[in-house]
Amino acid sequence: MKKIFKTLPAIFLLSSLLFIQCKNTDKNEGSAAENEQAEGTRDNRGMHISESDFGKTSEGEAVTKYTITNSAGLEMSVINYGGIITSLKIPNKNGEYQDVVLGLDSVSQYETAGTYFGAIIGRFGNRIANASFELDGKKYQLEANDGPNSLHGGNKGFDKVIWNVEPRAGEDEASLKLTYTSKDGEGGYPGNLETTVTYTINSNNELDIKYEATTDQKTVVNLTQHSYFNLSGDFSKTILDHVVQIDADEYLPVDKTLIPTGKLEPVEGTPFDFREPTPISDGMKQEESNEQLKRGPGFDHCWVLNDQDNGMRLAASAYEPTSGRFMEVYTTEPALQFYIGNFLDGSLPAKGGGNYEKRTGFCMETQHYPDSPNQEQFPSVVLEPGDTYTSETAYKFSVK
Ligand code: GLA
Repeated sequence: MKKIFKTLPAIFLLSSLLFIQCKNTDKNEGSAAENEQAEGTRDNRGMHISESDFGKTSEGEAVTKYTITNSAGLEMSVINYGGIITSLKIPNKNGEYQDVVLGLDSVSQYETAGTYFGAIIGRFGNRIANASFELDGKKYQLEANDGPNSLHGGNKGFDKVIWNVEPRAGEDEASLKLTYTSKDGEGGYPGNLETTVTYTINSNNELDIKYEATTDQKTVVNLTQHSYFNLSGDFSKTILDHVVQIDADEYLPVDKTLIPTGKLEPVEGTPFDFREPTPISDGMKQEESNEQLKRGPGFDHCWVLNDQDNGMRLAASAYEPTSGRFMEVYTTEPALQFYIGNFLDGSLPAKGGGNYEKRTGFCMETQHYPDSPNQEQFPSVVLEPGDTYTSETAYKFSVK
């Protein structure tokens, strides 16, 4: 007993010393790691990723904003809610950086806007007729959120969930790897779907997006990105003067609810012919007379891209003459939904003041054909267990 009392102060002293030592080690390790990260993501290597708080969802989940900057000065911000690209600053022909994507200021605005600004779209980008489809004779009922149809995954698609984000800054590129597991039955879709979307920015002002998904049950998948671009950098201007090119000899005419009729129609002789660079406003001159444009109303159609078996290839481009900004879209996908913001109605506050009025942004959504699960003649969107869904799209920015 006595012995213990004698040794106690010594034990206490020893453990206190050990404790202080451990704390110091932790601190040293922490700052070493921080230093390494700072070096790995900053100037000398050109790429940098920072994180900041972006508020909370209505369910109380914390939302983080990740901002990537490259050596050229391009800056892109992404939030883990919906994987939304909230801003993308790129230079004009005078080297001035401006934001070229439509976005909102808060999570609550994104939750209620209904415009899918900048978001990852899944499980199924675009419309599925009557919000249902059959696989192996079994009918799956989805959520009807666009008249009778299901649009962009239903009421709570991939644009409205929290993604896990892993940032990685390398020498010439920086990426955000976003992952999300959609549970079997979510939105009515079968199978647990493990999804990865990787945004990569490189030093040549390119944004590359890689999509991957696997399932444990036969299902359908069609992922895309819903950024609205206005390359002028001025959100008070419409996008009608942008000069667009789409490498497609055919497009998919739609019915009154914007579901493809199933026919592939040649673009030749129609306002849908963007095989040569053409101002959007040219085609829109037939807004009142062309039946398909009346249905949009305006361009909101799927173009059947050429060279579908050629993997990653140039599919489309857009040029804004005043700023000189030029965007090229490369993709592995067979089709492109070109939507010109017909449903923007001035009710959402624009960055930099004013509101987003009709046609102040356009989307180039690479994807498979709308309603594919119900139209057998369209390229398949079925994913089997053991297989991996892959898709890649790159947006390349320059000036001319
Ligand atoms: C897609 C659709 C459009 C519209 C927008 C969101 O691009 O094709 O009809 O629903 O999403 O407003």
